Amino acid sequence: MARLALLVASTATALLFFLVSSSCCLAATSSNPSAVVLAVQKDDATGQYVAGGFRQRTPQAPVTAVLDLGGATLWVDCDPGQYASSSYARVPCASKPCRLARTSACATSCVGAPSPGCLNDTCGGFPENTVTRLRTSGNLITDVLSLPTTFRPAPGPLATAPAFLFACGATFLTKGLASGAAGMASLSRARFALPTQLADTFRFPRKFAHCLPPASGAGFVLFGDAPYAFQPGVEISKSSLIYTPLLVDNVSTAGVSGKGDKSTEYFIGVTAIKVNGRAVPRLNATLLAIDGKTGVGGTKLSTVAPYTVLETSIHQAVTDAFAAETAMIPRVPSVPPFRLCYDGSKVGSTRVGPAVPTVELVMQSEAASWVVFGANSMVATKGGALCLAVVDGGKAPRTSVVVGGHMMEDNLLEFDLQGLRLGFSSSLLFRQTTCNNFRLG
Ligand SMILES: *[C@@H]1O[C@H](CO)[C@@H](O)[C@H](O)[C@H]1NC(C)=O
Ligand SMILES: *[C@@H]1O[C@H](CO)[C@@H](O)[C@H](O)[C@H]1NC(C)=O
Ligand SMILES: *[C@@H]1O[C@H](CO)[C@@H](O)[C@H](O)[C@H]1NC(C)=O
Repeated sequence: MARLALLVASTATALLFFLVSSSCCLAATSSNPSAVVLAVQKDDATGQYVAGGFRQRTPQAPVTAVLDLGGATLWVDCDPGQYASSSYARVPCASKPCRLARTSACATSCVGAPSPGCLNDTCGGFPENTVTRLRTSGNLITDVLSLPTTFRPAPGPLATAPAFLFACGATFLTKGLASGAAGMASLSRARFALPTQLADTFRFPRKFAHCLPPASGAGFVLFGDAPYAFQPGVEISKSSLIYTPLLVDNVSTAGVSGKGDKSTEYFIGVTAIKVNGRAVPRLNATLLAIDGKTGVGGTKLSTVAPYTVLETSIHQAVTDAFAAETAMIPRVPSVPPFRLCYDGSKVGSTRVGPAVPTVELVMQSEAASWVVFGANSMVATKGGALCLAVVDGGKAPRTSVVVGGHMMEDNLLEFDLQGLRLGFSSSLLFRQTTCNNFRLG
């Protein structure tokens, strides 16, 4: 299609057209990095994880965006005054990237001075704030995007994607995001989310790893292949990770999707939950599985859910089991949204957080078990209570178990999009390190 359009267009336009439509997937640098990295910080006020350390536009400007394991691509606020660049380019309606983005929207004309938000013949996207579930339509454009190739000890050289595709959001859409965030950065399986687009640009494997920090620390998202090296001299070898298949929900979970599109979020096959090594009784197996037709049920990972959300009957069963295993610890009244709370001063502490029974998410086999220790299962409230950090998600949620950010903190999670599998380390505290100690280069 793009080549056909070339023939009928005037030479000048044709050249521009060709550059725009083909440059999205080529890397400018002759030597590609084997990995690039984003720095991640937790925003205390919202519980969101904010990615920084990357630059966009010409002249290059630092951008921060809220991390999202869902979503379709990167979106940033392009309202007038919010986006200044001399190097952006539209994604034309008839181009291959527009077709691959699987949106039927197309802005054919815009009256006014050209700007990222006002362009003729431009492919449209549907940037969504997945925290507030608000979305809008916005141009798909490309611009220069640079990311660091080293992490610690020093912030190192940047690798540049000359034409990184993203969606133009608006100022109103950033409401509800961590202060300073210009938009959201998608880590999903979608074609133009960061993992696949960066892998295409830099020609490294379609995989990434993230290590979400608690509020005081710094974490990272690592795209591509590099050793998981942490100070002091701790290397998390890939063979020490436990792997479980990433499942595909056959029905899209996005606000806007093409016909027949599958979900691009990350689902895992939790088959049982254990507390203190004992299986939680009476978990509804139908709810734990993804229904192949309706897409309802199952377990997904979400960085925009601050705490793990459980369907009502699962929430009840897990809290009951946890209460039974902790009968010796003095309780205090519930602190919403948490039901089960303890007197924090009566709970001992360990290297892996408060001394409480473990919670385990058991996947395809007994050995494929994600063991959750106190640092990830308990949350300290302002009043001194220590609560089981799970939230009741109601009787008929789309997804029965949503593993939230708190449960993933200081755990290394490797998302292999090619092999469709998730590798997890369990708590790094157990190995006497944290996300904050990661180094690259
Ligand atoms: C779009 O095309 C129309 C007609 O050629 C033109 O008047 C208008 O200025 C263009 N808009 C932009 C943003 O380039
Ligand atoms: C399990 O959940 C399904 C789906 O909500 C429901 O139809 C079924 O009745 C539940 N089974 C039991 C034993 O509660
Ligand atoms: C999705 O559909 C494929 C066949 O099209 C099937 O093999 C797979 O099991 C389905 N996924 C789920 C989670 O049901």
